[in-house]
Amino acid sequence: MSTFAVTGATGKLGHLVIDSLIARDVPADSVVAAVRNPDKAQDLAARGIQVREADYSDPQSLRAAFAGVSKLLLISGSEVGQRLPQHRNAIEAAVAAGVGFIAYTSILNADTTTMILAEEHKATEELIRASGLPYALLRNGWYLENYTEHLAPVLEHGALLGASGDGRVAAAARADYAKAAAAVLTADSHRDSVFELAGDQPFTMAELTAEVSVHADRPVEYRDLPVAQYAEALVAAGLPEGYANVLADSSLGIARGELANDSGDLRRLIGGPTASLAEAVAASFKG
Ligand SMILES: NC(=O)c1ccc[n+]([C@@H]2O[C@H](COP(=O)([O-])OP(=O)(O)OC[C@H]3O[C@@H](n4cnc5c(N)ncnc54)[C@H](OP(=O)(O)O)[C@@H]3O)[C@@H](O)[C@H]2O)c1
Repeated sequence: MSTFAVTGATGKLGHLVIDSLIARDVPADSVVAAVRNPDKAQDLAARGIQVREADYSDPQSLRAAFAGVSKLLLISGSEVGQRLPQHRNAIEAAVAAGVGFIAYTSILNADTTTMILAEEHKATEELIRASGLPYALLRNGWYLENYTEHLAPVLEHGALLGASGDGRVAAAARADYAKAAAAVLTADSHRDSVFELAGDQPFTMAELTAEVSVHADRPVEYRDLPVAQYAEALVAAGLPEGYANVLADSSLGIARGELANDSGDLRRLIGGPTASLAEAVAASFKG
């Protein structure tokens, strides 16, 4: 039996990937939750999962965490701007530890997108290809939860701001990306492969707010802004300037169609339709 390791396992996607591995009958003790802070992984340890410390900024911890691992899912770090050296540490540790396969959560359309957010992903993909490790690039599109987990200010103001114009985003649920990751990790047929993972039903921001309006007690509109003005609004809402600029640029990426892709890879990997916008919005209102 292979030993599977998932980095960032204290995060939302990492938890869902572990759930999906277990649902595929991987024994809990064959799963390593590689985490920055083991105190945050007590729920995983209680389920019989091996919890090992693995900080992307600490190469020694990564090498120790990956010992005996056959298949590794490197979940991209959350510190935008720091990710390339962190991912390099993880890839070098995987090589040193003799890991047999690495999957990496990249970004949709990494070959062609011009979004600032994609730069660290593209560079990480290059490191993986150069490492000599058998790999799969899981090019995840936007999470539906990027919208549904942040509806409070939208409902408060009756408006969603953005710079996406009429562009469509093929967002999908984290749980679907997690199922796809588990499918790739547990199969033996995905060596050196690239998956463009996106939801079945791309939608515009106006379609999103129309869906939200169905459940809200007041109309909610989409207000399109020039990208600089949208970045200013994000800063006014409390985001650091650098991150606000990256998010506003990503919103503009949607206008250019860079977060849509009709490959069908996600649907094929999970063996059915992806969760829809309507389902995700309805679920978020049920709490
Ligand atoms: N596709 C999208 O729409 C989208 C949206 C947001 C993010 N993302 C990317 O997808 C990743 C997973 O998403 P998510 O929703 O699961 O994010 P999340 O819940 O914020 O989880 C991020 C995980 O990364 C871990 N991490 C951060 N810095 C680390 C470090 N230096 N060493 C080791 N672990 C570190 C965190 O550990 P702690 O628990 O210790 O903080 C956490 O487990 C994110 O990290 C980001 O790269 C994608």
